[in-house]
Amino acid sequence: MDCPALCASNLTEKIMPDFLPIEYPLQIPYQLRVYFTKGVFDTSNPVFRDLACSRESGNRRKTLFYIDEAVAESNPQLEQQIDGYFGHHESDLQFQGIHRIPGGESLKNDAEVVGKIYADIEKNRICRHSFVAAIGGGAVLDTVGYAAATAHRGIRHFRFPTTTLGQADAGVGVKNGVNFHHKKNFVGTFAPPFAVINDLEFLKTLPEVHMRNGYIEAIKVALIRDSGFFNWIESKVKELNRFDKETLEELVYRCAKHHVAFIATSGDPFEMGSVRPLDFGHWAAHKLEQLSDFKLSHGKAVAVGMAIDTLYSEERGYLDSQSAQRIINLLHELHFETYSDFLEQKNGSRFPYILQGLEEFREHLGGLLTITLLKRIGSRFEVHEVDTDIVLRTIKRLKML
Ligand SMILES: NC(=O)c1ccc[n+]([C@@H]2O[C@H](COP(=O)([O-])OP(=O)(O)OC[C@H]3O[C@@H](n4cnc5c(N)ncnc54)[C@H](O)[C@@H]3O)[C@@H](O)[C@H]2O)c1
Ligand SMILES: [Zn+2]
Repeated sequence: MDCPALCASNLTEKIMPDFLPIEYPLQIPYQLRVYFTKGVFDTSNPVFRDLACSRESGNRRKTLFYIDEAVAESNPQLEQQIDGYFGHHESDLQFQGIHRIPGGESLKNDAEVVGKIYADIEKNRICRHSFVAAIGGGAVLDTVGYAAATAHRGIRHFRFPTTTLGQADAGVGVKNGVNFHHKKNFVGTFAPPFAVINDLEFLKTLPEVHMRNGYIEAIKVALIRDSGFFNWIESKVKELNRFDKETLEELVYRCAKHHVAFIATSGDPFEMGSVRPLDFGHWAAHKLEQLSDFKLSHGKAVAVGMAIDTLYSEERGYLDSQSAQRIINLLHELHFETYSDFLEQKNGSRFPYILQGLEEFREHLGGLLTITLLKRIGSRFEVHEVDTDIVLRTIKRLKML
């Protein structure tokens, strides 16, 4: 929605003929780089060294690392291995140390943590010709990425996602952020990382409960972009339920590819408009995460949010019932719940808190309320109004399933 102060007639009236506006297009080329590898810190693996020494980096080689505590604990050799990798490549790379930080959403709710990272950056003299690198789940990547993007107005940043959701979605995008007053991602920036390195070996130690979270973003991207991918996920339920390595790796790769391709080709990588198809199912999900005091993981909350928006699409007659049923079945077959008690939590009023998620989503985007719905599996469209009575009906239906 245009700001009234900038509407054309208003502008022409106010322009001073002797002082024509000074306007230039400002184009800043970015390169989205997502590399897949195994054993990224084996001394024989050149991926990180080559990227860090690449021409685009201008030989910026000093790197300060942050690592998700759970990743460090489940890979006890890793920190030493990173140290060894830098030692092996010492003529090209400079190791500036590695700091452990606790993973999970509590990190994004911790008002102190970004300040601590700034202090490390200052103490280690990390400048815009150096790198900050984060190894961890989406929460660690979001937090460290935000600190890196804002310290010195932006330090080049490497991401090493270690969860399925991180490698398929959260880590390969261009956003970062932390929560404020318990509002998801209230503070953050659009700042493409210098590069993302998806080491599939990291998934080996990921607990099963987190492993499934990546499935959700894959189903989401399939629903909005690629019916063939949705059919493939349906055909691989058994393999996904036993976390078959090859199936998991293919799912992560296909989801990441869709994600990056969408950001690069949609024409709005920094979300200046109101359309956010990659956030299918997310308006309710973000509110649910908040209502649960972040006990409900992002993946689990998105499963419920997508179930709501799927049934809403059906109730409005946009999506046929058979497709809606297939989507709900797939979520259940992959062990996702499609209802949560938080959906009906209210405080005196007739309306549950979850409906506030719509306005908060609009506010976060700015402009018009824009919600992505489905007209077919693999095909989406946007609406700007939501009938809250129908939302409440879908919630009742989901409760009965
Ligand atoms: N920036 C974006 O565009 C974007 C997109 C989607 C989601 N996100 C954010 O990502 C976050 C969710 O990320 P997530 O699903 O990766 O969860 P997470 O970061 O909360 O990690 C889940 C848990 O797994 C642990 N862990 C991570 N990797 C591990 C490994 N290899 N072995 C053992 N334990 C490991 C973590 O310590 C944590 O306890 C949310 O905050 C969400 O808002 C961001
Ligand atoms: Zn998401």
